[in-house]
Amino acid sequence: MNKCAEARQGRPVTVEHAGVTVTRVGVNLGAEVSGVDLRQPLSDKAFRAIEDALVDNGVIIFRDQYITSDSLMDFGRRFGELTVHPFAPHEEKAPELIKFRNDENNPPFGTDVFHSDETFRAEPPMATVLCAKEVPALGGDTIYVSMSAAFDGLSDRMQRFISGLEAVHDLKPFRALFGNSEEDRKNLQHFERLYPSQVHPVVRIHPVSGRKVLFVNPQFTISIKDMDERESRSLLDTLFHQALIPEYQFRHHWAPHTIAIWDNRSTQHYAVNDYYPQRRFMERVTIRGGPVAGVEPADPVSVRKAKYLVPAHADRHGGHKPQRHVSGN
Ligand code: SIN
Repeated sequence: MNKCAEARQGRPVTVEHAGVTVTRVGVNLGAEVSGVDLRQPLSDKAFRAIEDALVDNGVIIFRDQYITSDSLMDFGRRFGELTVHPFAPHEEKAPELIKFRNDENNPPFGTDVFHSDETFRAEPPMATVLCAKEVPALGGDTIYVSMSAAFDGLSDRMQRFISGLEAVHDLKPFRALFGNSEEDRKNLQHFERLYPSQVHPVVRIHPVSGRKVLFVNPQFTISIKDMDERESRSLLDTLFHQALIPEYQFRHHWAPHTIAIWDNRSTQHYAVNDYYPQRRFMERVTIRGGPVAGVEPADPVSVRKAKYLVPAHADRHGGHKPQRHVSGN
């Protein structure tokens, strides 16, 4: 075992608890979970080990899980109430179960942009469970990004500036699903009444880990509250860019019967849309979240001294903050 990898975040690469083995597979997020057959009932201890792994790793992967749609929903319900996505494809008899069936006649829609799920809701979902039923021979990966690492990677000045700001989130990508007929316009108005734009903090506090998370995304965030449009647009562009930095990402390559669970409170994801016209069939359930708690505006007097040296030409490092300690002498 390379000790440097363990020292990197002060925690071991592999942990085992209640028969559940969790092995980190990415530096800032991502772990594989083994020792679990999700067709069998999970003990409370084993389930708690999985919940902890989710918070610690942002996204956790379970391989070789031959489970039915009903078992997938039952597993999701262990985390909390399942929600119904107002626009995603599902069958009448199980509206909580989303079926992404993409092929030659049905290209993927709206998942190839970084986002945390359904932030247009007043209380966006806490987590999402996705099960691969059929995967393309090539492509169709999902990229995850740690938005805690993305926040930590901002300069101290930017962190202070955005602390206490709020952003407006909107169902905007789904407007494209409605045409111009009178019926479509009425339907859209109905959804706009059900899901009016919401204001969330730009920096949220994860309710379990207490870590700060950059909570804006290019799919649903349309503006920064109380800023003029040009300022808002350029600040959002800067913040959206954080998700594109490879150092904060983990890329998952799917095999059939693999399940991924991600924590929407600390991560974003992007379903890579490179496999058309191959088939990709995934089932998803989404778990209800709670209110989004933000950080207080930073107090300029009590701001700590910078711990890291940020080079003048930060772009030579791909835009991320290098983890290099400033020597004390
Ligand atoms: C999603 O955004 O929920 C879809 C992710 C995927 O299909 O990989």
